[in-house]
Amino acid sequence: MTAVDDIGGISIDRRAVISVLRRLRSTDGQHNPLPVWAELRAMGDVVPAPWGGYFVTGFEACSQVLRDRNWLVPDIAWQERRPDPERWQALATQEMSHALSRLNAPAHTCQRRALGNLFDRQTLESMRPDIEEHVERILDDLDERLRAHGDADFVATVSEQLPVHTVGRWLGIPAEHFAHILDITHRQVHAQELLPTSSELAVSAEATLQLREYFTGLVRRRRDRPGNDVVSGWIRYWDAELPDDQATADRLLYYLTMFITIASLETSATLLSNAVRLLLENPARWDWLRRHPDHIDDAIDEALRYDPPIHLNSRIAADDTVLAGVPMAKDTMVHVLYGAANHDPRRNENPHTFDILRNGAHLTFGGGAHYCLGAALARLEVRTLLTSLLNRFPNLRLAAGPTYAPRMVFRRVTSLKVTT
Ligand code: HEM
Repeated sequence: MTAVDDIGGISIDRRAVISVLRRLRSTDGQHNPLPVWAELRAMGDVVPAPWGGYFVTGFEACSQVLRDRNWLVPDIAWQERRPDPERWQALATQEMSHALSRLNAPAHTCQRRALGNLFDRQTLESMRPDIEEHVERILDDLDERLRAHGDADFVATVSEQLPVHTVGRWLGIPAEHFAHILDITHRQVHAQELLPTSSELAVSAEATLQLREYFTGLVRRRRDRPGNDVVSGWIRYWDAELPDDQATADRLLYYLTMFITIASLETSATLLSNAVRLLLENPARWDWLRRHPDHIDDAIDEALRYDPPIHLNSRIAADDTVLAGVPMAKDTMVHVLYGAANHDPRRNENPHTFDILRNGAHLTFGGGAHYCLGAALARLEVRTLLTSLLNRFPNLRLAAGPTYAPRMVFRRVTSLKVTT
């Protein structure tokens, strides 16, 4: 095979693409993915992936893939049509294939309809007091650590704690299980990386079994003692829909509760760490936002645009189609690069400038039929945290880090030392 291929009418140096991807996963690439995204975008709106399929780098092309009905998520039927179906056989991959994000219509439509608007205004209002109270408690803890040691790890003390508390309480997970849940979710996501190694898949498989045990148990316990909580509500809904098939209802509820937990914890923690890091990188920015708290929502959106917690998402062509001028056959897989899209200068001028007042566009919560169901909750968490943090810690500064897990799909900040 030559180094330069002509794929879909585009000449591309495969070695160049592979080297760019390696950099994205490297320590440097994790610290600053912006040059990597720019390099990929310079290769075109769609860039052939070395293993087949394409990366989509431009904002408009990514938006089209997410919103257009011509593009589907890679479901089990698609996996079975592959010439190498064994690549999709790993336990963790198979298990995730039953989750909401891997279903197409009509199953997906049916489940989304059942869930409705998960975090409507009324639900968020009912969750707000608990989130506010918990924010104060973890900031007390941060304060204590800063006083005792001079610095503290913002990730372990704050970013990881708030989402697991919020989603855990909402799903009815006992607080003493939060550490276990966090640990399993960190290990499970390997399977959702691009080209995971066999040892990563083994780690994910073990975590998957633990998740299965935990969330089938959660559904069973809620069945035994139903209440007014969200999981009991879902049980009642699916029992009415499937009156003769409790086993299918329980399986569906296991996939749902397991997936919502995975979808919400790392993503929200990364947003909290990213937002605080981006604001503290320039102390004048922190001071300005403290004096202009009415712009906290603008700062949140700019953090979402600037550094999306999920870097990549995949879709397949439902039919023969053309994307950004490139003809693509039915079943072709494309990888939407959220960060590259958000930094497309055709959509956001001077994209590498962090500008709270930009009012820019981003695809960080996806788009179309699969648009993130937890966006409003994630925004409430980060808004509540920033409001209190700016108020209580006017002199907060970065001390060390951030450090990141070597990932390409789910970004994870592993530490961020702060001081006052
Ligand atoms: C900053 C935090 C978050 C980010 C960046 C994020 C991002 C995303 C993205 C990119 C998608 C895929 C959209 C697509 O395929 O077009 C998604 C889907 C989803 N998210 Fe989030 N998410 C976050 C927080 C949450 C939270 C807190 C929850 C729930 C409590 C949640 C639940 C979901 C669910 C259930 C889906 C699947 C929707 C579907 O396939 O129909 N997410 N999220």
